[in-house]
Amino acid sequence: KIRTAIMISGGGSNMAALIEAARAQDYPAEIVCVIASNLSAGGIAKAKAAGIPAFAFDHKLYDREGLERLVHTELEKAGVELVCLAGWMRLLSPFLIGAWHNRMINIHPSLLPKYKGLHTHKRAIEAGDKEHGCTVHYVRQAVDDGPIIAQASVPVLAGDTEDVLAARVLVQEHKLYPHALALVGSGRVRVTGDEIAVQPGTATFFRG
Ligand code: GAR
Repeated sequence: KIRTAIMISGGGSNMAALIEAARAQDYPAEIVCVIASNLSAGGIAKAKAAGIPAFAFDHKLYDREGLERLVHTELEKAGVELVCLAGWMRLLSPFLIGAWHNRMINIHPSLLPKYKGLHTHKRAIEAGDKEHGCTVHYVRQAVDDGPIIAQASVPVLAGDTEDVLAARVLVQEHKLYPHALALVGSGRVRVTGDEIAVQPGTATFFRG
Protein backbone atom coordinates (compact mmCIF):
# COMPACT_ATOMS: atom_id res chain seq x y z
CA LYS A 1 0.00 0.00 0.00
CA ILE A 2 1.24 3.45 -0.86
CA ARG A 3 1.89 5.51 2.27
CA THR A 4 -0.29 8.58 1.88
CA ALA A 5 -0.67 11.89 3.71
CA ILE A 6 -3.63 14.24 3.42
CA MET A 7 -3.22 18.01 3.73
CA ILE A 8 -6.26 20.07 4.74
CA SER A 9 -7.27 23.58 5.76
CA GLY A 10 -10.95 23.15 6.51
CA GLY A 11 -13.74 20.73 7.22
CA GLY A 12 -11.97 17.84 5.61
CA SER A 13 -14.92 16.13 3.95
CA ASN A 14 -12.69 14.91 1.13
CA MET A 15 -10.16 13.76 3.71
CA ALA A 16 -12.92 11.80 5.43
CA ALA A 17 -13.89 10.17 2.13
CA LEU A 18 -10.27 9.12 1.53
CA ILE A 19 -9.91 7.76 5.07
CA GLU A 20 -13.16 5.81 4.69
CA ALA A 21 -12.12 4.32 1.34
CA ALA A 22 -8.72 3.35 2.70
CA ARG A 23 -10.35 1.20 5.38
CA ALA A 24 -11.07 -1.44 2.74
CA GLN A 25 -8.55 -4.27 2.92
CA ASP A 26 -7.86 -4.26 -0.80
CA TYR A 27 -7.49 -0.47 -1.11
CA PRO A 28 -4.03 0.27 -2.51
CA ALA A 29 -3.28 3.28 -0.27
CA GLU A 30 -2.86 3.68 3.46
CA ILE A 31 -3.50 7.05 5.13
CA VAL A 32 -0.60 7.53 7.53
CA CYS A 33 -1.07 11.15 8.60
CA VAL A 34 -3.10 14.31 8.19
CA ILE A 35 -1.58 17.79 8.15
CA ALA A 36 -3.65 20.91 8.74
CA SER A 37 -2.62 24.48 7.95
CA ASN A 38 -4.53 25.95 10.87
CA LEU A 39 -5.52 24.92 14.33
CA SER A 40 -9.25 25.37 13.67
CA ALA A 41 -9.51 22.99 10.71
CA GLY A 42 -12.55 20.83 11.41
CA GLY A 43 -10.87 17.86 9.81
CA ILE A 44 -8.33 17.50 12.64
CA ALA A 45 -10.87 16.01 15.05
CA LYS A 46 -12.24 13.75 12.30
CA ALA A 47 -8.75 12.41 11.55
CA LYS A 48 -8.01 11.78 15.20
CA ALA A 49 -11.38 10.05 15.65
CA ALA A 50 -10.37 7.75 12.81
CA GLY A 51 -7.13 6.98 14.62
CA ILE A 52 -4.90 8.84 12.18
CA PRO A 53 -2.12 11.07 13.51
CA ALA A 54 -2.93 14.70 12.72
CA PHE A 55 -0.47 17.59 12.82
CA ALA A 56 -1.94 21.07 12.91
CA PHE A 57 0.15 24.15 12.23
CA ASP A 58 -0.85 27.76 12.74
CA HIS A 59 0.25 29.07 9.36
CA LYS A 60 0.14 32.65 10.66
CA LEU A 61 3.24 31.94 12.77
CA TYR A 62 5.48 31.16 9.79
CA ASP A 63 6.41 32.45 6.40
CA ARG A 64 5.37 30.24 3.51
CA GLU A 65 8.56 28.24 3.23
CA GLY A 66 8.99 28.04 7.00
CA LEU A 67 5.61 26.31 7.27
CA GLU A 68 6.44 24.03 4.37
CA ARG A 69 9.73 22.94 5.93
CA LEU A 70 7.88 21.84 9.05
CA VAL A 71 5.28 20.03 6.95
CA HIS A 72 8.01 18.37 4.89
CA THR A 73 9.74 17.13 8.03
CA GLU A 74 6.53 15.50 9.28
CA LEU A 75 5.92 13.90 5.88
CA GLU A 76 9.43 12.44 5.84
CA LYS A 77 9.18 11.24 9.44
CA ALA A 78 5.96 9.40 8.59
CA GLY A 79 7.57 7.74 5.57
CA VAL A 80 5.03 9.32 3.24
CA GLU A 81 5.21 8.38 -0.44
CA LEU A 82 2.25 10.36 -1.79
CA VAL A 83 0.55 13.56 -0.64
CA CYS A 84 -3.13 14.34 -1.26
CA LEU A 85 -4.09 17.99 -0.99
CA ALA A 86 -7.74 18.04 0.08
CA GLY A 87 -8.85 21.62 0.49
CA TRP A 88 -5.34 22.85 1.45
CA MET A 89 -5.93 26.54 0.88
CA ARG A 90 -2.35 27.87 1.24
CA LEU A 91 -0.39 28.54 -1.92
CA LEU A 92 2.64 26.24 -2.10
CA SER A 93 6.15 27.44 -2.83
CA PRO A 94 8.69 25.79 -5.14
CA PHE A 95 10.23 24.16 -2.06
CA LEU A 96 7.37 21.77 -1.24
CA ILE A 97 6.17 21.40 -4.82
CA GLY A 98 9.71 20.51 -5.94
CA ALA A 99 10.28 18.10 -3.06
CA TRP A 100 7.05 16.23 -3.91
CA HIS A 101 7.16 16.49 -7.68
CA ASN A 102 4.86 13.81 -9.16
CA ARG A 103 4.19 12.61 -5.61
CA MET A 104 1.58 15.25 -4.73
CA ILE A 105 -1.99 15.34 -6.04
CA ASN A 106 -4.86 17.79 -5.56
CA ILE A 107 -8.61 17.95 -5.97
CA HIS A 108 -10.07 21.06 -7.53
CA PRO A 109 -13.77 21.84 -7.87
CA SER A 110 -13.94 22.45 -11.63
CA LEU A 111 -13.43 20.62 -14.87
CA LEU A 112 -9.86 21.80 -15.35
CA PRO A 113 -8.46 23.54 -17.31
CA LYS A 114 -11.60 25.60 -16.74
CA TYR A 115 -11.85 27.80 -13.64
CA LYS A 116 -8.54 27.58 -11.85
CA GLY A 117 -8.53 29.45 -8.55
CA LEU A 118 -11.49 30.43 -6.41
CA HIS A 119 -15.27 30.75 -6.86
CA THR A 120 -15.39 28.00 -9.46
CA HIS A 121 -19.10 27.24 -9.03
CA LYS A 122 -20.16 30.87 -9.34
CA ARG A 123 -18.02 31.28 -12.44
CA ALA A 124 -19.47 28.15 -14.07
CA ILE A 125 -23.03 29.43 -13.45
CA GLU A 126 -22.23 32.92 -14.71
CA ALA A 127 -20.66 31.49 -17.87
CA GLY A 128 -23.87 29.56 -18.59
CA ASP A 129 -22.04 26.21 -18.55
CA LYS A 130 -24.27 23.16 -18.89
CA GLU A 131 -21.63 20.94 -17.29
CA HIS A 132 -19.35 21.45 -14.29
CA GLY A 133 -17.42 19.11 -12.03
CA CYS A 134 -14.16 18.31 -10.31
CA THR A 135 -10.64 17.19 -11.18
CA VAL A 136 -7.84 15.29 -9.46
CA HIS A 137 -4.45 16.21 -10.84
CA TYR A 138 -0.74 16.16 -10.08
CA VAL A 139 0.45 19.41 -8.55
CA ARG A 140 2.58 21.89 -10.44
CA GLN A 141 3.85 25.34 -9.48
CA ALA A 142 1.08 27.06 -11.40
CA VAL A 143 -2.08 26.98 -9.28
CA ASP A 144 -4.58 24.23 -10.16
CA ASP A 145 -2.42 23.12 -13.05
CA GLY A 146 -0.78 19.78 -13.79
CA PRO A 147 -1.35 16.39 -15.41
CA ILE A 148 -4.95 15.25 -14.95
CA ILE A 149 -5.60 11.89 -13.28
CA ALA A 150 -9.41 11.77 -13.31
CA GLN A 151 -12.49 13.99 -13.58
CA ALA A 152 -16.18 13.80 -12.70
CA SER A 153 -18.89 15.98 -14.18
CA VAL A 154 -22.29 17.09 -12.98
CA PRO A 155 -25.04 18.95 -14.85
CA VAL A 156 -25.62 22.63 -14.12
CA LEU A 157 -29.39 22.94 -13.72
CA ALA A 158 -31.67 25.93 -14.29
CA GLY A 159 -31.96 27.92 -11.07
CA ASP A 160 -28.80 26.52 -9.51
CA THR A 161 -27.24 28.74 -6.88
CA GLU A 162 -23.55 28.60 -6.08
CA ASP A 163 -24.27 26.55 -2.93
CA VAL A 164 -26.56 24.08 -4.63
CA LEU A 165 -24.05 23.49 -7.41
CA ALA A 166 -21.15 23.23 -4.94
CA ALA A 167 -23.02 20.55 -3.01
CA ARG A 168 -23.70 18.59 -6.22
CA VAL A 169 -20.00 18.75 -7.12
CA LEU A 170 -18.91 17.80 -3.59
CA VAL A 171 -20.89 14.55 -3.79
CA GLN A 172 -18.80 13.68 -6.84
CA GLU A 173 -15.55 14.83 -5.18
CA HIS A 174 -16.15 12.31 -2.42
CA LYS A 175 -16.31 9.53 -5.02
CA LEU A 176 -13.68 10.84 -7.40
CA TYR A 177 -10.84 11.43 -4.96
CA PRO A 178 -10.86 7.90 -3.45
CA HIS A 179 -11.07 6.52 -6.97
CA ALA A 180 -8.21 8.66 -8.24
CA LEU A 181 -6.01 7.76 -5.27
CA ALA A 182 -6.71 4.10 -5.97
CA LEU A 183 -5.73 4.60 -9.62
CA VAL A 184 -2.40 6.12 -8.55
CA GLY A 185 -1.80 3.67 -5.72
CA SER A 186 -2.43 0.65 -7.92
CA GLY A 187 -0.36 2.01 -10.79
CA ARG A 188 -3.32 2.05 -13.19
CA VAL A 189 -2.49 5.71 -13.71
CA ARG A 190 1.17 6.67 -13.85
CA VAL A 191 2.95 9.95 -14.49
CA THR A 192 6.30 10.28 -16.19
CA GLY A 193 7.50 13.84 -16.51
CA ASP A 194 4.29 15.59 -17.50
CA GLU A 195 2.81 12.58 -19.31
CA ILE A 196 -0.04 10.56 -17.83
CA ALA A 197 -0.25 6.90 -18.82
CA VAL A 198 -3.56 5.13 -18.18
CA GLN A 199 -3.75 1.35 -18.17
CA PRO A 200 -6.02 0.24 -21.03
CA GLY A 201 -9.62 -0.26 -19.92
CA THR A 202 -9.31 2.15 -16.98
CA ALA A 203 -12.00 4.83 -16.78
CA THR A 204 -10.86 8.31 -15.76
CA PHE A 205 -13.95 10.40 -16.62
CA PHE A 206 -17.20 9.97 -14.76
CA ARG A 207 -20.63 11.52 -15.28
CA GLY A 208 -22.48 12.20 -12.04
C1 GAR B 1 -13.32 21.02 -1.83
O1 GAR B 1 -14.45 21.39 -2.58
C2 GAR B 1 -12.09 21.08 -2.70
O2 GAR B 1 -12.31 20.68 -4.03
C3 GAR B 1 -11.75 22.55 -2.63
O3 GAR B 1 -11.97 22.90 -1.29
C4 GAR B 1 -13.02 22.07 -0.76
C5 GAR B 1 -12.54 21.44 0.53
O4 GAR B 1 -13.60 20.83 1.20
N1 GAR B 1 -10.39 22.78 -3.03
C6 GAR B 1 -9.97 23.88 -3.65
O5 GAR B 1 -10.71 24.79 -3.97
C7 GAR B 1 -8.50 23.90 -3.96
N2 GAR B 1 -8.22 24.83 -5.01
P1 GAR B 1 -13.32 19.73 2.29
O6 GAR B 1 -12.37 20.35 3.32
O7 GAR B 1 -14.69 19.47 2.88
O8 GAR B 1 -12.73 18.54 1.61
